[in-house]
Order: sequence, then structure tokens, then C-alpha cells
Amino acid sequence: MSKITIYQNLLTEAVAKSSFPRFPENIYDPIRYMLSLGGKRIRPILTYLSADLFGTNDINNATPVALAIEYFHNFSLVHDDIMDNAPLRRGKQAVHKKWNENIAILSGDALLVKAYEQLAFVKAEYIPELLRIFNKLAIEVCEGQQYDMDFEAIDSVTQHQYIEMIRLKTSVLLGGALEMGAIIANATLMDRGHIYNFGVNLGIAFQLQDDILDVYGDPSTFGKQIAGDIIANKKTILHILLKSKLENDDVQEFEFLSTDKRITSDDKITRMKNLYQKYHVVQEASDLKEKYTHSAYESLQKVAVGEYQKKELYSLADNLMRRTQ
Ligand code: IPE
Ligand code: IPE
Ligand code: MG
Ligand code: MG
Ligand code: MG
Repeated sequence: MSKITIYQNLLTEAVAKSSFPRFPENIYDPIRYMLSLGGKRIRPILTYLSADLFGTNDINNATPVALAIEYFHNFSLVHDDIMDNAPLRRGKQAVHKKWNENIAILSGDALLVKAYEQLAFVKAEYIPELLRIFNKLAIEVCEGQQYDMDFEAIDSVTQHQYIEMIRLKTSVLLGGALEMGAIIANATLMDRGHIYNFGVNLGIAFQLQDDILDVYGDPSTFGKQIAGDIIANKKTILHILLKSKLENDDVQEFEFLSTDKRITSDDKITRMKNLYQKYHVVQEASDLKEKYTHSAYESLQKVAVGEYQKKELYSLADNLMRRTQ
């Protein structure tokens, strides 16, 4: 069995064991529901792999950290789906659709508290440093999410601002998941930095892929509403690259699609995809994704551990970039 499978199993077992009270049902049922939908569970697997890479003497120490990370991620998705008005999550109704927005807000809040509760179960000597890293990434995710919302309403988002926004909303959680695994394995500060940078670069590539899949994903495997980002006027990488290339009448067409409220969603999606195709923006977004994946590999190479021991992290990164989910 590969290490990835072993850690997936450990995590699945830990999630299955986590018990939440029965009442009030409208707080805990949505939490059980979200966790039962699974997802890829990349971030907690990164925590395990990192603790393993740096030679932890007790991998069980990684479990509460991994759960804290996965709970936090699920909390962020429950609130993100309200903010993005997204109807689908992991192929099922989003919490705010299955219940309602107030329930999604409060059960999301409770799940965030449950994430912190897990951290308190880690061996005491590690808690202050874990908390410092977790607090930092948690506030950064909020900042990234606010930029994402702010950008919906403004036209002039640069590629640089976009990359900073996704670094905050998505990447720091992957970086933090890896760094926290390194902390409980007593890694050096230098290695903590390298593994964090691996995660951040990987996270940027991951979000670029997410933006592409949002439009071009297979509805039967992607699990989210296709082209929700176009409907919501999200400043995705496709949007930003396209805007910088438009010529002649396409400038007005793009302007019209981005602002007119009367156009139907289907029409808007078709016409925006025509523009994406005409200006080859998907290829360019993929090239950028490759660039960040490459930077991620460079950071991983700097970690002072034998290359052979990093093979699961390389292969996880590789699979992520070819994902359809
Ligand atoms: C979704 O993350 C949110 C993004 C940062 C794009 P995942 O694609 O990891 O979601 P799950 O947990 O596998 O459903
Ligand atoms: C997700 O960004 C970032 C967080 C949830 C913090 P998206 O809004 O692109 O994620 P999806 O596509 O809904 O999963
Ligand atoms: Mg979303
Ligand atoms: Mg969002
Ligand atoms: Mg998305």
C-alpha cells in the first residue's frame, strides 16, 4: 500500500470517529453532511506526508492537526458557497441550499471552533507554534476571500493582484498544512520554510487549475456548478488573461457580457467561452500553472531530506495537476 493510501485511510478513520452532538440538529447535521461528502482530502494528507518526511516518531500526533486542517477547509467551503451563491458542492447540494443561509453560517462557525478544538489535542509542546501558524493562515484565508469578493465588482484587477488573492484564499492553507506537519516532526526552520513554499506554489497551481476546471470540467466528476465563475463575474485567471488581449469589437462584446444583466446565463457562458477560445487563454493559464508547479518542485528539492523520501509528495503534486475533480 502506498503511503498516500495509508494516510488517506488514517484520515478517513479519524473523520469517521469524530462525533458531534445530535442537537441542535441544524448545527451538527450540516457538519456531518459536509464531512460525509468527503472530497479529495489533499490538505490533511499533506500534513501526514510532511510529518512522515521529517521523520516523526509518532505519526498519530499528525491526526489532530490533519483534522483541524480538514475541518477548517470544510468550514471555508460552507461559507464560500454562500458568498459565491454556489448551488452544488461535491456533486450534492451546498449546505446553504439544502438548509438555508443562516444555518450554513452558524454550522460553519461551529466547524471552525471544532478545528481549533482538535489543535488542543496535540502534544502540548507543539501547540503554541501550531496555533501561531494556524491563526496566520486562517486570517489570510479571510483576507483572500475578501479580495475575491471585492474583485467581482472592479474591472482593473492585474495578474499580480490575482496571484496574491489566490495565494491568500487557497495556497496558504496547503503551505500551512505542510508546515504544521513539519513542526510536529521537529523539522528545522529552514526546512519548514522550504516545505511551506512548496505548498504555496502548489496551491497557486491548484487554484489556477480550479479556475480552468470551473469552466471546462466534466460536470459528472467536477461536483460543482459548471461556469459558476463566469456567471458571478469572478476575476479568474481566464478572465484576467482574456481582458489583456482583447482586440477591436471583442472589447465591447466582453464589456457587454461582463455587465449586462439581461443576458441569460447560458448565452453569457457560450459567448465568453468563444472569446476564451479565440484568444487561447486556457493554454496560457495552463502554462502559468506549469510554471508554479515547477517552482513548487524547486522548493521541495531544497528540503534537506533524500529525494527518494519525497516521492509521494512529488506524485501527489503531479496527480493534482492532472485532476478532473
Ligand atoms: C476547493 O478545494 C476549494 C479550492 C481551493 C479550489 P478542493 O478542490 O480541495 O475541495 P475538496 O475538499 O476536494 O472538495
Ligand atoms: C475557494 O475558492 C477558496 C476558499 C474556499 C477559501 P473558490 O470559490 O474558487 O472555490 P470553489 O471553486 O468554490 O471550490
Ligand atoms: Mg466558490
Ligand atoms: Mg469563492
Ligand atoms: Mg473555484
